[in-house]
Amino acid sequence: MEQVLNAVMDLVVPPASMVMLAFAWSTLPFLRGVEWALKTLTKEDMLGKVVVITGASSATGEQIAYEYARRNANLVLVARREHRLFGIRDNARLLGAGQVLVIAADVVKEDDCRRLVSDTVSYFGQLNHLVNTVSLGHDFNFEEAADTTAFPLLGIEPSEKPPKVNSGL
Ligand SMILES: NC(=O)c1ccc[n+]([C@@H]2O[C@H](COP(=O)([O-])OP(=O)(O)OC[C@H]3O[C@@H](n4cnc5c(N)ncnc54)[C@H](OP(=O)(O)O)[C@@H]3O)[C@@H](O)[C@H]2O)c1
Repeated sequence: MEQVLNAVMDLVVPPASMVMLAFAWSTLPFLRGVEWALKTLTKEDMLGKVVVITGASSATGEQIAYEYARRNANLVLVARREHRLFGIRDNARLLGAGQVLVIAADVVKEDDCRRLVSDTVSYFGQLNHLVNTVSLGHDFNFEEAADTTAFPLLGIEPSEKPPKVNSGL
C-alpha cells in the first residue's frame, strides 16, 4: 500500500508543482501591476502642498526633503544648524521643490515649535504634512534628575543609584 502511495505521489506531485509554479510566475507580475496602478492612482499630488520637515539638516530628514522636492512640494526645513539647511534648500530646489523656507529651531523648545508652525502658516497660508524625524535621546546623571516620579515605574529603588539613566523619547 505504501509503495502504491509513493508511486502515485511521485507521479502527481512533480507535475502539480510545475503547474502551481507556472501560475505563481504569472500571478506575481499581475499583483505587482495592480499594486503599481493603485499606488499611481491614489498618490497624493504634492504640487503646491506645504511640508514641514524637522531634522532636515541631515540623514533621514534630508532625504525625505529630497523625496518631497521630487514631487514638487513646498518645503519648510527645520533644524538647529541653519547653515546646513541652506545647502539642502539649494539641492531641493534643483530637484523640483516649489518654495523652500528655512527655519532654525530647536524642537525641544515649545516656543520654537510654535514659531515654526506660525511662520509656516503666515508664509504659505497652510500646512499640509508634518514630518518629524528628530529623535530626542537624553543622557543624564541619576543624581541630576529633577523629576524622580518615573523611577518607581522603571523599577528603580531610591537606594539604587546607577551612574546613568538613558531614556530615548
Ligand atoms: N539612520 C538610521 O539608520 C535610522 C534607522 C531607524 C530609525 N531611525 C530614526 O529616524 C530618525 C532620524 O534619524 P537620523 O539618523 O536621520 O538622525 P540624525 O542623523 O541624528 O539627524 C537628526 C536630525 O535632527 C536634527 N535635530 C536633532 N535634535 C534637534 C532639535 N532639538 N531640534 C531640531 N532639530 C534637531 C538634527 O539637526 P541639527 O543638529 O542641525 O539640529 C538632524 O538634522 C530617528 O528617530 C532615528 O531613531 C534612523
